[in-house]
Amino acid sequence: MGRNRTWTFESTFGISLAEFSAISAKAERRLFRQALSDTDLSSLITLSDIDEIVASRNLVFPMVRISKDGGMLPPHQFTRASGLEVDAIRYVDSLKLFRCFRDGGTIVFRDMHRYWPPITELSWELTREIGCAVTVNAYLTPRDTQGLTPHFDYHDLLLVQVAGAKSWYSYSHNADLPLDNNNWRSIIRSVTMPPPPRDTPVAETTRLDAGDVLFVPRGSTHAARTSSEVSLHLALELQTWTGFDVALGVLRQVSSSRKLRTGVPYEIIADSGLTREVVSESIRDAQDLADGLDIDRLGWAIYRDSHVDLFETPVRLVSQYNSIASIEDSATFARRERILFAMRTEQDHVVVEVPDRVFRFPRALASAVELALSGHDVTLAACEAVGTPGHVTRRMFQTLVSEGILVPSAAAGY
Ligand SMILES: [Fe+2]
Repeated sequence: MGRNRTWTFESTFGISLAEFSAISAKAERRLFRQALSDTDLSSLITLSDIDEIVASRNLVFPMVRISKDGGMLPPHQFTRASGLEVDAIRYVDSLKLFRCFRDGGTIVFRDMHRYWPPITELSWELTREIGCAVTVNAYLTPRDTQGLTPHFDYHDLLLVQVAGAKSWYSYSHNADLPLDNNNWRSIIRSVTMPPPPRDTPVAETTRLDAGDVLFVPRGSTHAARTSSEVSLHLALELQTWTGFDVALGVLRQVSSSRKLRTGVPYEIIADSGLTREVVSESIRDAQDLADGLDIDRLGWAIYRDSHVDLFETPVRLVSQYNSIASIEDSATFARRERILFAMRTEQDHVVVEVPDRVFRFPRALASAVELALSGHDVTLAACEAVGTPGHVTRRMFQTLVSEGILVPSAAAGY
């Protein structure tokens, strides 16, 4: 494995982001023939890498699942518990896994963007370009096998054929923009259409060979069958934002408002439950509050929630712990490269947010905080030179280090 290239829409699929956006908006399938070269594919993942991952990573359920005959195999068929306790870990057993694969099971490696570095890079680079989180599952299917029965997914998909070949079937029976069950959006039953029956007639067949990419829009029914070789494909899931997500984000932001927190009078609830007037008034209140919302804050909240599945540059436990004591010794730090964070100014403060914490520093430190989070190497002295000298800047710097936002430069991952 090695870093051979940068993953952009243009370089990966041969189209601009604007062209891709138009294809997605029309919910059209699109084939990108030979979008990835052999070198691209081998830099991402190979069949030998899969063997290596299974042999050496001690995967646990449900990082791996097995799909067969339209259902998922029970985990005991391919895992072994570490003991009899209720909290025993279910490790994937390579021999059991092999048997399942030999007998026609499709092995699903979930969230590969979390543990296979080249795919982590692909995930973040496309995520940064497209704005929505791109998560990656890998599917290994034996020869002459149909891994999945006709179904539709709740996100746009880019299917990258890595090894072998797969014939993808499309159907005229599709769901219209379903929302449910996204990795980060917790609603169900947005569309009433059940999964299509097994014997649904195929409308079109598209064969993918290694290097081909197929765009399958949200709701588009698909199934696939392998050829005479083992097939490995990556499913890039685009965790797109919808109007629903923005509206929900607005509601979450305005939920702190006293106006909306006011209880609906008991006599109304007791009488009819709900009236058109109560609904209209609530919507009007939400609308008024939405008009005054800080868009940066709303944007961060939706970004944070929808990107939660990405794999951030990890914190090195012991070295980070020890680094806190080295701040004064002109040690060099940098922001972890791949983290979810936002910085903005709010009245008297400069605000730094990570998914589960908010930090407020005096506004006079804005330049120092900006420098600290720039992604370049920084020292406390450099921040003091652009900030308020003395303990205020030091306290800010200490906070960023002790909260694992700034890490020793060598561990930042740039
Ligand atoms: Fe699918």
